[in-house]
Amino acid sequence: MARFALPCLALMGVALVHPPARAEDPAASLKTEAAGLVKTYSTTLLTALQDALDSGGPVLAIEACHTQAGPIAADLAAHSGWSIKRTSLKLRNPASAPDAFERETLAAFEDRLGKGEAIADLTRTAIVKGPDGRETFRFAKAIPLGQACTTCHGVALTPEVTAKLHDLYPEDQAVGFKPGDLRGIFSLSRPM
Ligand code: HEC
Repeated sequence: MARFALPCLALMGVALVHPPARAEDPAASLKTEAAGLVKTYSTTLLTALQDALDSGGPVLAIEACHTQAGPIAADLAAHSGWSIKRTSLKLRNPASAPDAFERETLAAFEDRLGKGEAIADLTRTAIVKGPDGRETFRFAKAIPLGQACTTCHGVALTPEVTAKLHDLYPEDQAVGFKPGDLRGIFSLSRPM
């Protein structure tokens, strides 16, 4: 897409302005940094989605999500030093499958939502041992489904959208959501 080079610059800006790590509380500053990256990531994705919807409608926008969602996350990761992904219990892209921590987080968020917590407030941080034995900081934030998302994740999709999704994601499970549902999480991690 024409605007694909732009996010790089924006992301470098973000990496440079994060607050300096404070030795006495590294977790607090990592959480602030992760939350800032989530904002940048979600704004970049939404801008790309909106551009594609405006220029070509939902079928072209599906194609744009398919080709750009991965590179946008990879670009942000390369500039920030964090691992960054989106995941869900009802997946569209099978490459975005949750690991054990993410599955547990998604279940805990559903539970907290059921107990009346606001979806916008659902975050979780943890320090876990990574596969290499190093301590890893993890951050997750809920992704609520908005009205605009129902075109591709809702209950009643058009035949064109259904056909395109089936074409690119034959095992798509990410439909049937209603506004306010927990669509998934942003999941970020980095070694301590
Ligand atoms: C034009 C269709 C379209 C719209 C509108 C749309 N999405 Fe998606 N969404 C997709 C496609 C296609 C993917 C798979 C991207 C990929 O290949 O990684 C996806 C993937 C996702 C994922 C990653 C997890 C998974 O299942 O692969 C999340 C989370 C998500 N969308 C949330 C949203 C939210 C929230 C909105 C509204 C702000 C939204 N989507 C609007 C098409 C759409």
